Amino acid sequence: MIILKLSRLPPRRKRHGQAPNPAGASLGVAGSSDSPYPNAATAYARPHSVMSTVSYHHDRPLSVEAFADVLRRSTLGERRPVDDVHRLEQMLRHANLLCTAWTGDRVVGVARGLTDFSYCCYLSDLAVDAAYQGRGVGTELIRLMQSRLEPGAKIILLSAPKARSYYPHLGFEAHPSAWTLSATPALAPRRN
Ligand SMILES: CC(C)(COP(=O)(O)OP(=O)(O)OC[C@H]1O[C@@H](n2cnc3c(N)ncnc32)[C@H](O)[C@@H]1OP(=O)(O)O)[C@@H](O)C(=O)NCCC(=O)NCCS
Repeated sequence: MIILKLSRLPPRRKRHGQAPNPAGASLGVAGSSDSPYPNAATAYARPHSVMSTVSYHHDRPLSVEAFADVLRRSTLGERRPVDDVHRLEQMLRHANLLCTAWTGDRVVGVARGLTDFSYCCYLSDLAVDAAYQGRGVGTELIRLMQSRLEPGAKIILLSAPKARSYYPHLGFEAHPSAWTLSATPALAPRRN
């Protein structure tokens, strides 16, 4: 497990062969001149092929079933409690920044964050449907997440083994002094 943090994502690169944004939205953000998402409610559509588009949202409800399904389709389901409905419900209910990517009614990516919006944001789960990986969906989800935070807020995460070399691509730095505490065993008793 590696812990990483990100202060600011690098500017968006134009991908090879990418068509103009069909939604016509400039990649700037809603209500603010430096924000890349001009419509606060629904982010924007970004083409991933000539056949369909992926749209990005920070406020679209996600059912437990759809959450479990996209986790499984991404392979992150191997490392998340996808068969435990109670925990999934709690994970969704208490996440306060849930960014999702959709093709129509099908969720193809999710970034689940817990944040105070000002100092830090823990990016707990980033998952992209395997059929959509490598097309910039993960990057756009993180970009959307970052756009919802105040300037200066850091994104912090624990990398899954398969994604260790992914985050440095985006500008994340490994943090040498990060720590986690598992639920078991319990904290060592106080000495005195
Ligand atoms: C890791 C993951 C979220 C990345 O999302 P994605 O949409 O596939 O990634 P992007 O298309 O935004 O990739 C951006 C760049 O990183 C590279 N990249 C993608 N996945 C990578 C990986 N696992 N390791 C290293 N580099 C990776 C891409 O090739 C791309 O490079 P380019 O900009 O030079 O073309 C996604 O592949 C996934 O869900 N993986 C399985 C679950 C997982 O490990 N989640 C992370 C939990 S911490």
